[in-house]
Amino acid sequence: MNTATTSSTVVNEQGPALVGGDESPILSVKNLSVRFQDNIAVNDVSFDVSPREVLAIVGESGSGKSVTSLAIMRLVELSSSGKVTDGTMKFVRASGDIVDLRTAPETQMRTIRGNDISMIFQEPLTSLNPVYSVGNQLAEVLRVHKGMSRREAKKGVIELMERVRIPEPTRRARQYPHQMSGGMRQRVVIAMALACQPRILIADEPTTALDVTIQAQILALLRELKNDLDAGIIFITHDMGVVAEIADRVLVMRKSEAIETGPVEEIFHNPQRPYTRKLLSAVPKLGSMNGTDSPALFHLDREEAS
Ligand SMILES: Nc1ncnc2c1ncn2[C@@H]1O[C@H](COP(=O)(O)OP(=O)(O)OP(=O)(O)O)[C@@H](O)[C@H]1O
Ligand SMILES: [Mg+2]
Repeated sequence: MNTATTSSTVVNEQGPALVGGDESPILSVKNLSVRFQDNIAVNDVSFDVSPREVLAIVGESGSGKSVTSLAIMRLVELSSSGKVTDGTMKFVRASGDIVDLRTAPETQMRTIRGNDISMIFQEPLTSLNPVYSVGNQLAEVLRVHKGMSRREAKKGVIELMERVRIPEPTRRARQYPHQMSGGMRQRVVIAMALACQPRILIADEPTTALDVTIQAQILALLRELKNDLDAGIIFITHDMGVVAEIADRVLVMRKSEAIETGPVEEIFHNPQRPYTRKLLSAVPKLGSMNGTDSPALFHLDREEAS
């Protein structure tokens, strides 16, 4: 289903559908190609993301997962050799307006980044400022994005921290990022993303650096939040155990190309490509990564699987 390419499309704001992917996409990427000089980083990749749907993008290192998300944020060109050479990325704003993220004016992209589309990364410290307390940083986001007064923001910070289950929020709000554990810091970053109420959340390996118990908590939190926000999530990971926990649909990337896509159950139970089977071989069945000490990383023989 792809109705997001016509300007009459209005995303169902009430959205009673329980399963992601059953309604009009918020984001529809078609034939995306990205190059860094002569190196093709992404080649002819297409996918949709709907409200309350988690699309997992999986594939070995260097397959083009992160570059795909940078293209959505229109950050590829920050690197002087980077260029989106083909494709469209139609995004439906809360107003119902449809913009192509490839061609939208930069001023519009500035409001879309952070507001409409938020990103969280593997290392939460990249998103946090070391010289301000986490409470101050959250308050700043609430003031800028929600127009709150200082007083309202102070209260809002505690509510946000409670929502992402940070214990003792009043005390924690005074802490600096380096005084927190990795899992707590990632909660702060999720709280920041939440404050912006994005329509799309891009999470690039957000749990890879965390131990398994904390990973599970963060995944549960993300699942809860996508339903609260009606947001779509693009979840980039190496770990098929994590995919089993969180994804509704899966896009498998290999050497810059999308080689297989489908609902998570189909990808796990009836993978079509040898490469996908190989990715899954470390995780023979749903949930089998639960309770293990570390995420399964892909170690692929590039010539063997295809
Ligand atoms: N700034 C850049 N300049 C030049 N080439 C780049 C740049 N960023 C990415 N690439 C190249 O684009 C390709 C895709 O990289 P990308 O970062 O998307 O891989 P990935 O799938 O996210 O890998 P990983 O799992 O290791 O994060 C790689 O060949 C990479 O070397
Ligand atoms: Mg990456």
